[in-house]
Amino acid sequence: MNRIYLCLAHMSGKEQQYIQEAFDTNWVVPLGPNVNAFEEDLAHYVGEEKQVVALSAGTAAIHLGLIMLGVGRDDEVICQSFTFAASANPVVYQGATPVFVDSEPGTYNMDPQLLEEAIRDRISKTGKKPKAIIPVYLYGMPARIDEIMEIANRYGIPVLEDAAEGLGSRYKGQVCGTFGEYGALSFNGNKMITTSGGGALVCSDEETKKRVMFYATQAREAYPYYQHEKIGYNYRMSNICAGIGRGQMTILDEHIEHHRWVHGQYQQLLGDVEGITVHSAPESYMESNYWLSTICFEDGKHTIGGELFPLIEKLSAANIETRPLWKPMHLQPVYQDAPAYTNGVSERLFSCGLCLPSGPYVGEKEIEYIVKSIKENVFSSRSGK
Ligand SMILES: Cc1ncc(COP(=O)(O)O)c(C=O)c1O
Repeated sequence: MNRIYLCLAHMSGKEQQYIQEAFDTNWVVPLGPNVNAFEEDLAHYVGEEKQVVALSAGTAAIHLGLIMLGVGRDDEVICQSFTFAASANPVVYQGATPVFVDSEPGTYNMDPQLLEEAIRDRISKTGKKPKAIIPVYLYGMPARIDEIMEIANRYGIPVLEDAAEGLGSRYKGQVCGTFGEYGALSFNGNKMITTSGGGALVCSDEETKKRVMFYATQAREAYPYYQHEKIGYNYRMSNICAGIGRGQMTILDEHIEHHRWVHGQYQQLLGDVEGITVHSAPESYMESNYWLSTICFEDGKHTIGGELFPLIEKLSAANIETRPLWKPMHLQPVYQDAPAYTNGVSERLFSCGLCLPSGPYVGEKEIEYIVKSIKENVFSSRSGK
């Protein structure tokens, strides 16, 4: 069996044509026809009432979202703790402080109740409201966004959705990344679709889009010479990468369908194994793209301090890539001084959860092999062999 990875890039075959066009017309720069067309494709996908700016990374999208929301020195921004560091790091780029909020067990995403507790406590401790809220769609799973938006609106705090892993996931039929003021998408090599590296910021109107593009292109003012009145960034997407993105858009729905099928297979083949939970959407109105399927071991043995690492190693020796769930930000040494509102959920998930191969090259044969390998290892550890 060839090595089975979590999620590899997979091309439609059309990418080269768009790249060739870019070379033929010498649009080998971070703007051009592919960038414009990719943005149009994305806007069409997320909903025409939104605008999309193609950028160099999902991290850049989060950073620009925070800049647009006016986050600066001495501000606090509420972040989901259970996530990849890129959700929170841009808060620090702005000189602000992330305030971490734990997850709820159904979605693994931001716990709305704890969010409200955190907001109240921050207001009472600092005398001012957090400047923004960053919920995440982890592994593609929709967050409890209605509840989060209700709280955010009640306190008048804007929401920047980190939909880096959630492209194409839907909540009550609406695409994730389109609920808040801004939504960040990622097209990193391991994501639902890729531009090799890239991201996008979903925003609400043409005027806002222009402003985002202004900051993404070094904040150059409209003068015949180079005039700068604000600090800008070099965050635009290259026309070559956007060519890949245009090709990828033609198979986005197929990719999502495949990831969902993979999840269904794991659910069917592992769902009734005692002590293993396959994470699935807790509500029928949450349509996860199932970017990565994840399982949790409830047996008390397969934990970070127990048999989880040996299992990861054994699976790796069998040519199967797996990975622990994200280590919560409030446990990261770099964020040890940041305020955190916790309930034990993300720590438990980190301790006993595993991401399984879920990408376009994971077929029936691979799933059977992965499931067989997990069962063999878990059962042999349970029987003490
Ligand atoms: C939850 C989350 N947020 C943000 C990012 C950052 O995206 P990028 O790698 O495109 O900068 C990623 C992925 O890498 C992610 O998984």
